[in-house]
Amino acid sequence: MHKLQNPFSKTSIAVIGDVMLDKYIFGEVERISPEAPVPITLVTGEKFVPGGAANTAANVATLGGRALLFGLTGADEAKDVLVNESKKFGINVRGLRSIEGRRTTQKIRVLGQSQQLLRIDYEELKALEVVEQNNLVQDLKAATSLNAVLVSDYAKGLISENLMKHIFEHCHKNNILVFIDPKPDHQAWYRGAFMITPNRKEAEAMVGYKLSSHENVLKAGKQLQANLGAHILITLGDKGMCLFEKNQEALVIQTEAREVYDVSGAGDTAVAALCLGYCSGMSLRESAVFANKAAGIKVGKLGTAPVRLEEIPA
Ligand SMILES: Nc1ncnc2c1ncn2[C@@H]1O[C@H](COP(=O)(O)OP(=O)(O)OP(=O)(O)O)[C@@H](O)[C@H]1O
Ligand SMILES: [Mg+2]
Repeated sequence: MHKLQNPFSKTSIAVIGDVMLDKYIFGEVERISPEAPVPITLVTGEKFVPGGAANTAANVATLGGRALLFGLTGADEAKDVLVNESKKFGINVRGLRSIEGRRTTQKIRVLGQSQQLLRIDYEELKALEVVEQNNLVQDLKAATSLNAVLVSDYAKGLISENLMKHIFEHCHKNNILVFIDPKPDHQAWYRGAFMITPNRKEAEAMVGYKLSSHENVLKAGKQLQANLGAHILITLGDKGMCLFEKNQEALVIQTEAREVYDVSGAGDTAVAALCLGYCSGMSLRESAVFANKAAGIKVGKLGTAPVRLEEIPA
């Protein structure tokens, strides 16, 4: 599709949150190590992909929107790779700040014959220093003509109550919508958001009961909407999603049957598409249907991978 025809090309979304680098090591396993009862993986390839908030930003960009990424990394090699890979998708990375002495969050997956053998995580769950947070807020405030701020909270230390206060203050003053991909423990900080998108597990933790029946899904959605004063989209994995728009009946959106390879990152795709759709003039319902289709495409891909608009059926 030509860039000018993309319906999202004029929409700017700032994604702020825990950025990560996903590394995939592909290999073949043919024997067990003589040193310990573990498979020996003969490496055939490697791949790096933006992860966490950076994957959400990548989806905004590949769907055709303007994606500005805000977050913190270490001053290390992983940061350089993350910046390069993010730029390849067209993400504006000027809001990424690297901190000396901090480590870039990285998740390394070792795959033998496409099956995951091991995951290795590097992460530092350190809260931000005041000056780091202030810099981040200043950078965000300096971004002009934003349609939305999308908070991608993976509870890795970036999002705090205080940071959320600054985000809301700026966004409410400037008519910028706040979308939140939440973590349950932080729900008290999210009041003031336009839309919050928990997955099933997160919604369960937020309300304190299982969403094992449809009645409970409806109850939880309404409860979250009332408690947090926001529209709520509960994503339900292979059961699709349920939209709770204020003053409207809940809308259940089923997934379309397809081959599923890997569901990781589907939530990132969903919130990116939802935010981009709504900010580009779709109704919330249309945006949710679009998000469900986009996430459905993602699950047909291996690993964290953003979705392009051309891949989504009309
Ligand atoms: N097995 C599946 N088949 C079809 N669609 C799926 C499947 N799993 C997820 N999806 C799509 O992806 C959306 C988000 O999935 P899910 O609720 O698993 O999010 P999530 O747990 O936040 O994902 P992640 O944290 O891995 O990014 C769903 O609402 C649905 O549209
Ligand atoms: Mg998620």
